[in-house]
Amino acid sequence: MLSLQSTSKPGHMATSNLVLVIMLMNILVSGWRIGVDGLSMDYYLMTCPFADGVVRNTVNRALQSDPTLAAALIRMHFHDCFIQGCDASILIDSTKDNTAEKDSPANLSLRGYEIIDDVKEQLEEQCPGAVSCADIVAMAATTAVFFAGGPYYDIPKGRKDGRRSRIEDTINLPAPGLNASELIRMFGQHGFTAQEMVALSGAHTLGVARCSSFKQRLSNFDSTHDVDPTIDTQFLKTLSKTCSAGDNAEQPLDTTRNIFDSDYYNQLQRKAGVLFSDQTLFVSPRTKPIVNGYAFNQAMFFVDFQQAMLKMSWLDVKEGPKGEVRANCRKIN
Ligand code: HEM
Repeated sequence: MLSLQSTSKPGHMATSNLVLVIMLMNILVSGWRIGVDGLSMDYYLMTCPFADGVVRNTVNRALQSDPTLAAALIRMHFHDCFIQGCDASILIDSTKDNTAEKDSPANLSLRGYEIIDDVKEQLEEQCPGAVSCADIVAMAATTAVFFAGGPYYDIPKGRKDGRRSRIEDTINLPAPGLNASELIRMFGQHGFTAQEMVALSGAHTLGVARCSSFKQRLSNFDSTHDVDPTIDTQFLKTLSKTCSAGDNAEQPLDTTRNIFDSDYYNQLQRKAGVLFSDQTLFVSPRTKPIVNGYAFNQAMFFVDFQQAMLKMSWLDVKEGPKGEVRANCRKIN
């Protein structure tokens, strides 16, 4: 503890004040820079002061003309961070020598790449070589959450772009057939608790799934059941009707597909989760109470979701020479 009372001599007083000033500055600076070394809220203050605004305006404009893209941008950030960390590896195009992450079956329905390209072009004009594609993807996701009515949260910047994007790495994306224990284990490998995994799954308050992602629940389910017994009988008819239009037919993941709310969890309580990996969260005794909590208390879901997203945005972040700032998000420099 710093004592200001023990200062009888003027020289001593000046030294104490100096120490106090330095301590205060330290508190200010460390409050400003969160968590990971090298990432900070004001990372682009000197090199590209309007970066945040350019991302926000461009993303908001795109979402005004197509609100369904909010879901796409949030999913893009998740699929980026889970493979090789949040390093924009998801944006790299395949070449004749390399099939990239984005061409994996798990990523074929990702959308919104052109929004990231649009932001990047503007930022390269304003401040060439300054803003990483990884930061743009992360900032676009926060903008999308808020646009859709979810919580506002700011993220530290300074992620560098990676140089590796390989289809085989995407084996580590969670599949829709996983049960709660498998999901807990998989998210646990990235440092998330079961509660954080359930909160992050709440991103399924937005968007759609294609029939191919849930049709295995509708027939030949397992050795004892033809149909997944955890589906409500009425909702089963809805899913079957969707699938009658083919593998690519889309089913909204909750009843308010463009609004960020806790309806997803209410739907799980009604046995009307679209994916097996959604409904399992209400089946497992480890996760069911968390689903009930978020269904009952949307504010609690919002707080937990924003904290878990912030944590996700730090996953295996590359700093300094471990990465680069790509000139074009679709290829390494
Ligand atoms: C818990 C494990 C998860 C599994 C198994 C999973 C799986 C899936 C699947 C299969 C789809 C539908 C894809 C399609 O049919 O085209 C989907 C959609 C989506 N996922 Fe997940 N997901 C998980 C977690 C997450 C997380 C953590 C986020 C974001 C934080 C997220 C965001 C989304 C969004 C927003 C969509 C809708 C995309 C759109 O409409 O374009 N998911 N997910």
